[in-house]
Amino acid sequence: MTAHPKIYVAGHRGMVGSAIVRQLLVQGHPADRIVTRSHAELDLTDQAAVRAFFATERPDQVYLAAAKVGGIHANHTYPAEFIYQNLMMQANVIDAAFRHGVQKLLFLGSSCIYPKLAPQPMREDALLTGTLEPTNEPYAIAKIAGIKLCESYNRQYGQSYGVDYRSVMPTNLYGPGDNYHPENSHVIPALIRRFHEAKTNQAPSVAIWGTGTPRREFLYVDDMAAASVHIMNLPLSTYSQHTQPMLSHINVGCGHDITIRELAETIARVVGYAGDIAFDPTKPDGTPRKLMDSTRLNALGWQAQVGLETGLEKAYQDFLDNHTAQP
Ligand SMILES: NC(=O)c1ccc[n+]([C@@H]2O[C@H](COP(=O)([O-])OP(=O)(O)OC[C@H]3O[C@@H](n4cnc5c(N)ncnc54)[C@H](OP(=O)(O)O)[C@@H]3O)[C@@H](O)[C@H]2O)c1
Repeated sequence: MTAHPKIYVAGHRGMVGSAIVRQLLVQGHPADRIVTRSHAELDLTDQAAVRAFFATERPDQVYLAAAKVGGIHANHTYPAEFIYQNLMMQANVIDAAFRHGVQKLLFLGSSCIYPKLAPQPMREDALLTGTLEPTNEPYAIAKIAGIKLCESYNRQYGQSYGVDYRSVMPTNLYGPGDNYHPENSHVIPALIRRFHEAKTNQAPSVAIWGTGTPRREFLYVDDMAAASVHIMNLPLSTYSQHTQPMLSHINVGCGHDITIRELAETIARVVGYAGDIAFDPTKPDGTPRKLMDSTRLNALGWQAQVGLETGLEKAYQDFLDNHTAQP
C-alpha cells in the first residue's frame, strides 16, 4: 500500500458523498486515490456487480454514503423500495468490502433510527428502546440493520481479519448539493427556495406551517464530512474506548437546536427577504423537539465548526449558482 489509502466513496454524487470527496481533497488526499462510481455505472443493489467492482478496484477504505433517501411523502409512497434498496446496497457493499480485504469502512445512517418518543437529546443508547416513527420505519429499520451489519462483521472478523467497520448517525444536514425540489425537500432548502421566490416576486408575506415553536438541530454538510473523516481515522483503541461492540454508532450533530421561527428569520435575513413571516398555527407542528446528544463525538475530539448563518450563506450561494435559471 502507498502512503495514501485507496478510498471508495459510495454515493459521491449525493449531498453527503460529494462533501466527503471535497473533504478528502481538502485534507490533501490525492484525487487519484479516490474511487467513485455513479449509480448508472454501478447499481449497488446488484450483488454480482458490486463484488466485481471490489475485485477490480480493491479499495482500502469505504465511505458508504449511497442510499435511497427521501421525505415523508416518498417514504410513505414507496416503503418497499426504501427498505429493499437500502438493505441490499449496504449488505452488498459491506460484505463485498469484507470479502476483498477492506479493513476500514464508515456507514452513514440517520437520526430516524431512534424511537419516536426517545428522550431528548437522543443518546446512542436510545437505539432499539421503543417504537419508531411509522412514516419512515422501513427506512429506519434498514439503517439499524446497517449498524448491526457493521457490528456483526467486527465481532466475527475483527480479531481474525482486522475488520473495523464504524457507523455515524447525522442530524439534519444542509448545504451544497441539497435537494431544492418545490414539494419534496427538507425544511432548510424548502425555506431558501420560498424566501428567494418571495424576494424575487416582492411578495408581502411568506406563510409557514405550524406555530414556529418546534426545535430542530441542523449541521452544515461539510462539517458532517469532516466528522466522518475524523471518525474513520481514529485509532481503534480510541474508538473502542468510547463505544461498545453492540452499541458502536456515533451521533453527529452540532449539539444545539433552534426553533423553526428562529430558523425562518435567519434564512429570510440571509436571502434578503424583508417581508412578513406568517405562522399558521392551524397546521401541524410535528414533534416538539429533535436533538442528538453528541457527547460521544465531542469526547472523540470533534465538534462542529460552521455556524448556522455562515452555513446558510454558503447554501444560498449554491442555490443561486445551481438551482435558479441563469439570466
Ligand atoms: N441529507 C440529510 O439531511 C441527511 C441526514 C441524515 C443522514 N443522511 C444520510 O446520509 C446518506 C447520504 O444522504 P444524501 O443526503 O447525500 O443523499 P443523496 O443526495 O440522495 O445521495 C444519495 C446517493 O446514493 C446514490 N444511490 C442511490 N441508490 C443507488 C444505487 N442503487 N446504486 C448506486 N448508487 C445509489 C445516489 O445516486 P443517484 O443520485 O445517481 O441515484 C446518490 O449519489 C444517507 O445514508 C442518509 O441517510 C442524510
